[in-house]
Amino acid sequence: MANQVKSDKDYSQYFQPPSLTDAKKRGKEEIAVHYDFMIPEDMQGFGKDKYYLIRTYGCQMNEHDTEVMKGLLEQMGYQTTEDKNQADVILLNTCAIRENAEDKVFGELGHLKALKAQKPGLVLGVCGCMSQEEAVVNRIMQKHAFVDLIFGTHNIHRLPALLKDAFYNKEMVVEVWSKEGDIVENLPKKREGIRAWVNIMFGCDKFCTYCIVPYTRGKERSRRPQDVLAEVRDLARQGFQEITLLGQNVNAYGKDFEDITYSFADLMDDIRKIDVPRIRFTTSHPRDFDDQLIEVLGKRGNLVEHIHLPVQSGNTEVLKRMSRKYSRDHYLTLARKIKETLPDVVLTTDIIVGFPGETDEQFNETMSLYEEIGFDFAFTFIYSPREGTPAAGMEDNVPMEVKKQRLYRLNELVNAHSKASNDKLLGQTVEVLVEGESKNNADVLAGRTRTNKLIHFTGSKELIGRMVEVHVTQAQTWILKGEIVEEPLKLSI
Ligand code: SAH
Ligand code: SF4
Ligand code: F3S
Repeated sequence: MANQVKSDKDYSQYFQPPSLTDAKKRGKEEIAVHYDFMIPEDMQGFGKDKYYLIRTYGCQMNEHDTEVMKGLLEQMGYQTTEDKNQADVILLNTCAIRENAEDKVFGELGHLKALKAQKPGLVLGVCGCMSQEEAVVNRIMQKHAFVDLIFGTHNIHRLPALLKDAFYNKEMVVEVWSKEGDIVENLPKKREGIRAWVNIMFGCDKFCTYCIVPYTRGKERSRRPQDVLAEVRDLARQGFQEITLLGQNVNAYGKDFEDITYSFADLMDDIRKIDVPRIRFTTSHPRDFDDQLIEVLGKRGNLVEHIHLPVQSGNTEVLKRMSRKYSRDHYLTLARKIKETLPDVVLTTDIIVGFPGETDEQFNETMSLYEEIGFDFAFTFIYSPREGTPAAGMEDNVPMEVKKQRLYRLNELVNAHSKASNDKLLGQTVEVLVEGESKNNADVLAGRTRTNKLIHFTGSKELIGRMVEVHVTQAQTWILKGEIVEEPLKLSI
């Protein structure tokens, strides 16, 4: 710990490196919910006339954490900038899910070294999932000593105090709690646009053998229903058109409550009654997807008919070694039940190819499951060993070349299904939430269907943020194109 820093000074107050062993622990300790968050008095106004820039990697959870950090920084008086030369604080909110995610961050650190040399007053921080990893923190301390601040996913609310430490101390400030986790309510959030994220739970207890998330995000803990519902109602009042409920495993929501019985299905049933046009959720786990949830989703309304349900593999033996806790048959039955209730559901998934020891036959079962279910889309990944996880210690006799070929074959299938799924909408009129101008052509508007498909069409910019009806005229693999259906003229009396 503190003895890693070669100095007599006691750094322990602001030097707390992570421990994967501690992060693995799951005790009986009650989850504390804190409602008393405030920016420390001496930090209010600390950011006056200063600028911040946050680079975000990884999943929506991280994107939303960035909104919290922006909220904190702006309450301290900081203003946002996209120009790293203008920034007084730069934070990298990192992702540890695969090796290439980490490589990107180390690459960016390399670029920032020169900037830091030119501008010694700059506070450069690393946060997010990578900072929860012992090996990463050690590597930064040894090879990227110009970094001023490292803080973990449980320490976000401490940002104001940590910034102060980093600002006044010459040594690197490291504060990463490897605890199971509390919940801090009332943190400020800077949301932009018309779509909002809402955390309903934090952490993960599933410990899939390949995955780093349970170590970087702590134990599963659900926000109290009244806190989630109050936040959703408030967003509805503010006019947000779409809300995505976030958690690593949203349908485990409520399982940690000891005083009440209230599940994810109950939560969805209550949120359904709130006046927000669209409610999404991510990510759900097949093991916890129960009949009550399917029944509630069947009520539709603002609950959209898109479900992202990661399967990872189509082979029961591989699923077992991944510790996914369901079989191929279980998943097939679940998908069938969902389709019985929601025949027009868009079902998407995540798949890992080349898990240690995966045979050709086992991989072919993933291909056949994909066909049998008829997924609309999938995110596909080559397995990436993560230090400290059980799979990293499994013998892996599958050559990288074979893994790449499998990924290629799978992606061909994914693309074909994606095109077919879009083709089904040809000639139909769909409800579209208009998000903004298309990236490549300012005359074209971009929006999303209820099932989260991207669609481009020509229309007036005043429609941004509104729901419109669009007639689908073209279906490509990744995108739909269409024409807006004229709003019927209102007859004046
Ligand atoms: N909580 C979500 C997944 C979060 S990570 C869930 O359980 O569904 C997003 C995806 O990254 C996973 O679904 C998995 O497909 C992939 N992934 C996770 N760890 C990985 C690893 N070590 N190598 C390759 N892909 C991985
Ligand atoms: Fe990772 Fe599995 Fe938890 Fe998802 S459910 S975050 S894949 S351990
Ligand atoms: Fe990455 Fe952490 Fe999300 S590892 S995927 S940012 S929970």
